Amino acid sequence: MPPRWIAASILSADFARLGAEVHAALEAGADLIHFDVMDNHYVPNLTVGPVVCEALHRHAPSAILDVHLMVRPVDRIVPDFASAGATYITFHPEATDHIDRTIELIREHGCRPGLAFNPATPLDFLDYTLERLDLVLIMSVNPGFGGQRFIPGALEKLAAARRRIESAGNPIRLEVDGGVKVENIGEIARAGADTFVAGSAIFESGDYRATLHAMRREIERAV
Ligand code: DX5
Ligand code: ZN
Repeated sequence: MPPRWIAASILSADFARLGAEVHAALEAGADLIHFDVMDNHYVPNLTVGPVVCEALHRHAPSAILDVHLMVRPVDRIVPDFASAGATYITFHPEATDHIDRTIELIREHGCRPGLAFNPATPLDFLDYTLERLDLVLIMSVNPGFGGQRFIPGALEKLAAARRRIESAGNPIRLEVDGGVKVENIGEIARAGADTFVAGSAIFESGDYRATLHAMRREIERAV
């Protein structure tokens, strides 16, 4: 199991002070910055694109940028995020016509590919892809909005994805996204996640450091 990471999702940050929010999250102990890209097409919401990603990359050059694409089509925008400083680029299999080609495109551009699974998307999409991925993202809400409630079925799915990753043998991260809080992060860790995305739990708390600390304590207690 790789070291456990907590990713701060800037979707719930104060967008008028985005650079300062990213610094605050990193200083408070976030391991990576989760960057949600929505297009009002694949998901019914609209956020930010490569221009903002690049600005944040310049502002915090050492931050690991975990780009979560909720856009269709995917391939057109991949090179733009690569040159904007993305570290991971994760996409949804339903949003691209050629999954293998998209994975290859992300890698060719020097980024780490991830595949995201909506609550009703079967893990079958890992059948011919897992060995070529650096990250598997299990959505524990339907994508599109922050602040939703964790869907309990994600726990079983995380455990199934963990088993597949263990048998593949490569150091592939297992990330969970949606409804992650101090109160449930322990059981999510026990189910097998090693990378935890949290948006509202961090940015809507008064004290980012205390929240991240409490999350880490719950993870350590649970595993
Ligand atoms: C939802 C996004 C998430 C979102 C999670 O589509 O992919 O990254 O920011 O927000 P919380 O942690 O508030 O559920
Ligand atoms: Zn996300």
